[in-house]
Amino acid sequence: MPLPDSFMQDLKARNDIVDVVSSYVALKKRGRNYVGLCPFHNEKTPSFNLYPENGSFFCFGCETGGDVITFIRKIENLDYMEAVRFLAQRAGIAVPETGFDDGLSKTRARILEINREAAKFYHQTLNSPAGESGLAYLQKRGLSERTIRHFGLGFAPAERFALVDHLRSLRYSPEDMIAANVAVRTRSGGAMDRFFSRVMFPIIDLRGNVIAFGGRILTDEKPKYLNTSDTLVFQKSESLFAMNFAKNECAETLILAEGYMDVIALHQAGFQNTVATLGTALTAAQARLMARYTKEVVLCYDSDEAGQRAASRAVPILKSAGLLVKIIAVPGGKDPDEFIRSHPSDGAIRFKKLIESGANDVEYALAKIRLKYNLQSDAGRVNFLREAVPVLAAIENDLERDIYAGRVASETGAEKTTILSQAKTQRRRDQKKREEKSFQKIENALTFVRDDLNPQKHEFFRAANAEEELIAYLFSNPDRAGELSEKLPPDGFCTDFNRRIYSMILQKAAETTAASLSLSDFGENLSPAEQSAVAGILAKKSDVPHTREDVEECIRVLRFENQKKKTRNLENVGSEDFQEYLEMLRKNKA
Ligand code: GTP
Ligand code: MN
Repeated sequence: MPLPDSFMQDLKARNDIVDVVSSYVALKKRGRNYVGLCPFHNEKTPSFNLYPENGSFFCFGCETGGDVITFIRKIENLDYMEAVRFLAQRAGIAVPETGFDDGLSKTRARILEINREAAKFYHQTLNSPAGESGLAYLQKRGLSERTIRHFGLGFAPAERFALVDHLRSLRYSPEDMIAANVAVRTRSGGAMDRFFSRVMFPIIDLRGNVIAFGGRILTDEKPKYLNTSDTLVFQKSESLFAMNFAKNECAETLILAEGYMDVIALHQAGFQNTVATLGTALTAAQARLMARYTKEVVLCYDSDEAGQRAASRAVPILKSAGLLVKIIAVPGGKDPDEFIRSHPSDGAIRFKKLIESGANDVEYALAKIRLKYNLQSDAGRVNFLREAVPVLAAIENDLERDIYAGRVASETGAEKTTILSQAKTQRRRDQKKREEKSFQKIENALTFVRDDLNPQKHEFFRAANAEEELIAYLFSNPDRAGELSEKLPPDGFCTDFNRRIYSMILQKAAETTAASLSLSDFGENLSPAEQSAVAGILAKKSDVPHTREDVEECIRVLRFENQKKKTRNLENVGSEDFQEYLEMLRKNKA
């Protein structure tokens, strides 16, 4: 059963799309609309557009679009009902009880419950005789009772069915335990614990849900860590360990470490602004998540070669999310956890100094190039200069570029002005390349004929364009629906997808007294992909003013194209039809 209309109206009225989106995207006003950097893909020039009038957004770069509910679904990774609840909560209104719920969101909810129960179970076990070895291990590694409680650390006992039995006593089904990945299927088809004899690190999302676990073995056995595989509620590549704590402490700086233990040790030492990926290389989605909460990331990876390589790979990913990047190398070949513990009295102070002295990514990049060449030789200096110029060119701030150009100059004996002018030339070249690329993208978005949702667009391009103009027109002029449907009933549309949208709009328009329609009026009648498509139509037609004449012209085009389609479809063109067709051709020419 769908949610009542009155509730949906209320929900939309209290969740203005500009308000909602601006807590995720820095929006700039442009005319009646807004633009910003798209939160769904990495970009340097804004192609994310927001249209308050019809309550839609559309990104010309990645072609994602929709209404406020779709936006929340995508950015918070929720399904439809969860997004509705999220917005209801935001606006402080209650979601009416309806029988409506799709199976998926029920399963998700059960997985989250199971995870919470599992976390409780592991934590209680840690503080029981069965967890002695785990507790001793964590204490040996310097964790205080308070830290253990704060992170909800736990212990999975050695038996193979401890958690499964516990969850069964709470009436959870083996299927759901397996879906949560706290259990695995046995050969006989039952469920068995996935984690045993491990200390457990719950992974908690930004809303406080336990979404996954990492489990460390106490010995040197392999694998050292076992993590939850991706489930309906967990995507490893999009989550960050301890972001639930760090998000409130990182307005200025966020520290990115490699391991769970590093994060916990740093939090305990007072650096609550530390997070880690979950044992995988940093992804763009994780960088964007960080960029929502902080300006600068301090990379604090292990000082071994693998760690340093991972750090230099992470730099461009962080930068393209718009973050400033600093890199620190922990001395003595240690990881941050070992560093803090090896200085029992002043580890935190030393670490703070380390962060403050941390090279920013320009220094780091230059240092890396410098290491490759012998600056005592002419050839070495030339090579160094050749690779240093692109680094300088990438610096946005003129003053900063000037400072580093000065350093490179004194290291190589070259003229600073020459170095700077080289860098500027390179900058212009890079800039031009970027512009061409982004222009090309917009071009593609505007003219790309292949359209998965509307495959007929390719065949009836001219008609589809006219159809889309009418769709956009109706959104802002619903009062003209009656008149339009008389002149051009849905039958007059050539492409099935647009025809369906047109019918839906005509119906909505007939019901409404509002001055314009909003994309969210169509709610669940459109899938997210269809929402994107309609948002795209609205976005692409948003700068085109529609006069009555334009509408008449569209109708004319459609009548003509539809006729042409009919004749094309009929193997044996009836003579009247053909006459009609010829007549149309003649009129259209005139
Ligand atoms: P300790 O060795 O206990 O100090 O843990 P650590 O966090 O320092 O681990 P390490 O630096 O070796 O690895 C960093 C991160 O990579 C860990 O926190 C895990 O997320 C991940 N990781 C390490 N070993 C494994 C493994 O065997 N399997 C998986 N899946 N992930 C691992
Ligand atoms: Mn470690």
